[in-house]
Amino acid sequence: MFDWFKPKKSLPIEPPIEKKVENFQSPRAVLDRFTAITGIHFNQKESVTATKLIYFCRNHSLYSFEELSYAIETNKGILEALINMLTVNETYFFRESRQIFFCAERALRSGKPIRVLCAPGSTGEEPYSIAMALLDKGILPHRIEIVSLDINSDVISLAQEGMYNGRSLHKTAPHLQEKYFQKVGGMFNIADGVKRLVHFHTVNIFEDSLFALGRFDVIFSRNMLIYFDEATVIRAVERLSRLAQNRETLFFFGHADFVKTPPMLCEHYEDGVKFYTLS
Ligand SMILES: C[S@@+](CC[C@H](N)C(=O)[O-])C[C@H]1O[C@@H](n2cnc3c(N)ncnc32)[C@H](O)[C@@H]1O
Repeated sequence: MFDWFKPKKSLPIEPPIEKKVENFQSPRAVLDRFTAITGIHFNQKESVTATKLIYFCRNHSLYSFEELSYAIETNKGILEALINMLTVNETYFFRESRQIFFCAERALRSGKPIRVLCAPGSTGEEPYSIAMALLDKGILPHRIEIVSLDINSDVISLAQEGMYNGRSLHKTAPHLQEKYFQKVGGMFNIADGVKRLVHFHTVNIFEDSLFALGRFDVIFSRNMLIYFDEATVIRAVERLSRLAQNRETLFFFGHADFVKTPPMLCEHYEDGVKFYTLS
């Protein structure tokens, strides 16, 4: 048969390219779900947060807040990235340092090994400050264990690296800078002897992995509760109180963390320092 008698092959029909159109209405449902997972509220800052969410969606090829809501529920990586973008991780060494030195003095006087929790510890400045204060009191390293948690996995990686800029050290006494940091270019590297005392974990305090961390003699929970509403503060403190080693366990909070003392705690004031024990 001649070629020109063959029936012509029909070309496959390409499906029309569906051009997705962005549709960013109110972020309320996304924010409510985020709050339910993390405890963090966004009361006044909805418009700022909406701008950040749109930016986040574009980076993750999501075209609406409905798609983002669905992704939060079904894709752990998306939830993690969103948490890492929306949490506020501001911290520095020896922030509200009177509580840290008070804790070190108490630990020295007790003469017992000490297990401390930092919930949250952000990029590590707070737990490392506690470690330095304890070492500086002459407490032996094998008698110190510090556990630092944070919901943000990026800050946990930075904490484990232990490299800081000068701004983080603006409240660090020169003799502590000299003793516990090595200058590398313009940065400050925390000494291995301090690093070894702190164990970092990515943990959401509202998840049950919190209770796998064990019990503690001292619990620092500073400048996290300010992002929660009143009922969530009580829920958070109740969960942290279950990690107390015993009735002597000391709790330290940031000065703006709550106004009314949660019912499971009893307030104390000594040497100008506010702290709490179980009620
Ligand atoms: C402002 S920083 C405070 C850090 C340090 N405690 C201080 O006072 O300098 C607040 C930290 O709380 C963490 N955070 C917020 N919600 C959390 C949650 N549900 N579980 C664990 N960490 C949380 C954030 O990721 C952030 O790093």
